[in-house]
Amino acid sequence: MRVLAVETSCDDTSVACVDDTMVRSNMVSSQVDLHAHFGGVVPELASRAHLTNVLPVTQVALEAAGWKLDDVQAVAATAGPGLIGAVLMGLTFGKTLAWSLDVPFVGVHHIEGHILANDIEEPMALPAVVLVVSGGHTETVYVPRAGVYEHVGRTRDDAAGETFDKTAKLLGLGYPGGPILEKLARSGRPEQFTLPRALWKRGDLDFSFSGLKTAVRLAVEGLGEVTQQDRCDVAWALQDVVVSTLVEKTRRAINAHRGSHDEELRGVYLAGGVAANGPLRDQFGRLAAQEGLTFRPPALAYCTDNAAMIGWAARTRLLAQTGDPLDLPAFARAPLASWRNAED
Ligand code: KG4
Ligand code: ZN
Repeated sequence: MRVLAVETSCDDTSVACVDDTMVRSNMVSSQVDLHAHFGGVVPELASRAHLTNVLPVTQVALEAAGWKLDDVQAVAATAGPGLIGAVLMGLTFGKTLAWSLDVPFVGVHHIEGHILANDIEEPMALPAVVLVVSGGHTETVYVPRAGVYEHVGRTRDDAAGETFDKTAKLLGLGYPGGPILEKLARSGRPEQFTLPRALWKRGDLDFSFSGLKTAVRLAVEGLGEVTQQDRCDVAWALQDVVVSTLVEKTRRAINAHRGSHDEELRGVYLAGGVAANGPLRDQFGRLAAQEGLTFRPPALAYCTDNAAMIGWAARTRLLAQTGDPLDLPAFARAPLASWRNAED
């Protein structure tokens, strides 16, 4: 099955060609420069850029895979969640292409794509607990098998990636904030700032990052003039709190699962843009070893938004089920577990 996949849920226009066994091409046209000036993604600009970019990116993806349009046997696109105008661009393009080629169409939940990105290079060890952590999402998900998802813990306010992005903006750094702060943190001195850990009391599975964001703002305002060393020290403190919180909450999700399910857990995985973070990947490796679970840090190209993960999720579904009707709606928000569970 040769699937052409489109992902336009936020600020990257991505098109990939995926077959039964591997990703043949995965092209991403980044809009980072377009939005950097504003310190975050401007939804209307993102939609317009997708409209301009989606055809040329599709052409390049087909060429890189060595495919012609006639080789495409199914088309997939992200149906949500995301910026609704941006999602609509890729979804409408994908449906139109499927209709004109007379091939099946598959709508994919963006978070399912992030999770199954872990399955691209080697099959995932399932059942698994997956930490999904990006600019819009922070949640732990129990995955007994591909297509079935149960939420364990979730953020009650901001996403972890958003905390990196807002802090970078506050410090006058660029966008996206995560990679910039990770780099600065390498020159940061430990323990220069004390930042709060929210929902830390025993057994709490949820996340909360809005208090942390406020604490960072107060700490920076208290400095008066902000030096480069201050920026590095703030980056160190923020990364330390965020990473240790993500790891601790994942450990709790594993324990909660073990206390309530009969099936034995086999894997623990990381998904989403923040999964590119080096210290988080290292600490996940240690967590997996302590808990006796399989973990492979996902390839960097499959952490941040990309269409290969959407194609892989569509391919996985098409191996077992049929495609979607062409009136499948776009959505801005919907939990993965209730959107379209294989067990529904
Ligand atoms: O998955 P993604 O590309 O888009 C969303 O679906 O949100 O994730 C983007 C997020 C941004 O918040 C960005 O700052 C964060 O991932 N990110 C990182 C790193 N690379 C990207 N956060 C921490 N460390 C990184 N190295
Ligand atoms: Zn994403």
